[in-house]
Amino acid sequence: MDEVQRILLRREAIAKRVQELGEEVSADRSPTDPLLAVAILRGAVIFAADLVREIKGPVELDFMAVSSYGNHSVSHGEVHVLKDLTEEIAGRDVLLVEDIVDTGHTVRFLLDTLGKRGPRSLRVCALLDKADRREVEVPIDYVGFRIPDAFVVGYGLDYAGRFRNHPEILALRPEALTS
Ligand code: IMP
Repeated sequence: MDEVQRILLRREAIAKRVQELGEEVSADRSPTDPLLAVAILRGAVIFAADLVREIKGPVELDFMAVSSYGNHSVSHGEVHVLKDLTEEIAGRDVLLVEDIVDTGHTVRFLLDTLGKRGPRSLRVCALLDKADRREVEVPIDYVGFRIPDAFVVGYGLDYAGRFRNHPEILALRPEALTS
């Protein structure tokens, strides 16, 4: 059985939207103080790599990894830090770069954790938003695409470690997910 149900977003559509997001972020940022983009490992790496090149002005890049849940198809709402930032963020303008906001627990945790460190600003840019699945409200400043409740892979997103290098965003068949 083919696990892929359909192509949700083609590479041209992704590239166009990422460029627009870069313009939105650029319009809001300080033109002089470096913006610290924090890419959440591992799913946001490809999005972040494209996004930072569409942001005008100085941008620094850091990474953070938080726990995910098994094959990612079910959330249990528990999040903890697996790899922390290298940079101090007190007084800095920080842009959290996420691949997808699903239940909202991950972004809620990141906002709480990083917010305590005293950044000057802390904004969220998510490529994908599955708003129908939200369990906790989270502010998302920049959203690439609102998508329906499907499990999606590609452009950095994985299913059990697979599909991250696929250039399009694909929806998998629900019956292909083992849990
Ligand atoms: P949340 O905490 O439920 O909002 O989930 C956020 C994380 O779950 C994302 O950063 C992804 O790692 C993972 N995730 C949620 N939905 C999907 C999906 O459809 N495909 C791949 N990963 C997903």
